[in-house]
Amino acid sequence: MPHGDVPADETERAARATSFGVVADAYEKARPGYPADAVRDLLGTAPLDVLDLGAGTGKLTRTLVAEGHRVRAVDPDAGMLAALATAVPRVPHDVGTAESLPLPDASLDAVVAGQAYHWFDPATALPEIARVLRPGGLLGLLWNVRDDDVPWIHDLGEIMGALDAGDQLRPPALQPLFTEATVSWYAHRHPLDVDGLVDLAASRSYVIRLPEGERADRLAQVRALGERVAEGGVVPVAYRLQVWSARKVAA
Ligand SMILES: C[S@@+](CC[C@H](N)C(=O)[O-])C[C@H]1O[C@@H](n2cnc3c(N)ncnc32)[C@H](O)[C@@H]1O
Repeated sequence: MPHGDVPADETERAARATSFGVVADAYEKARPGYPADAVRDLLGTAPLDVLDLGAGTGKLTRTLVAEGHRVRAVDPDAGMLAALATAVPRVPHDVGTAESLPLPDASLDAVVAGQAYHWFDPATALPEIARVLRPGGLLGLLWNVRDDDVPWIHDLGEIMGALDAGDQLRPPALQPLFTEATVSWYAHRHPLDVDGLVDLAASRSYVIRLPEGERADRLAQVRALGERVAEGGVVPVAYRLQVWSARKVAA
């Protein structure tokens, strides 16, 4: 899985997992969304009961809503959920975690997590997700990976201290509660202005947690890079979205 964000040290991991709310505005402005065709391929076109888990500011939630699903959202961070409530006001949302879901047994057709599963503890989260899913329910895990084959995006990763490419082809280990995960890939672009590119860097957990001086220095380097590559003020950040999909196995 591509999760250059996640450090090996457990204390640092927990601190970063809960660090997003302080930059909810930057996150909302700069992070990429999820293409509709990817969501359609994952869930089909019939309306489903779907949980967006680790929903953050609702980047994936809004595509799920636009596709006609009955969506609810869970995230541990009230700051992120406040931004979600502005973006998709009709979506019911709860503060909660993947390890302890505030939802009844067998109440959902699908659980999806965008850019979030790597923050969960699979040993407790997978049984919880299986509990709230109906028989044969779907688990979808999505990650937007910056396309580091584009030279300037590779430079961006180096400045931020984290390249996205590398370990993204490893499938998440979901068995025995779920079937083996299968993957699909979608190329897309997220156009930003230079301020947006700086926000993109500022919203990464490994940048949020840097000492202030170092953080300011890295963000200044990102700004200089953005000014160098912008065309007509636009910086088109190229992503490859990977979508892993698995079904709940009958008990
Ligand atoms: C990188 S953000 C992704 C947000 C959103 N899904 C998106 O695609 O933009 C990761 C989110 O996972 C949430 N998170 C962290 N630990 C979690 C946990 N144990 N259970 C559920 N969500 C968690 C964070 O609060 C954060 O909102």
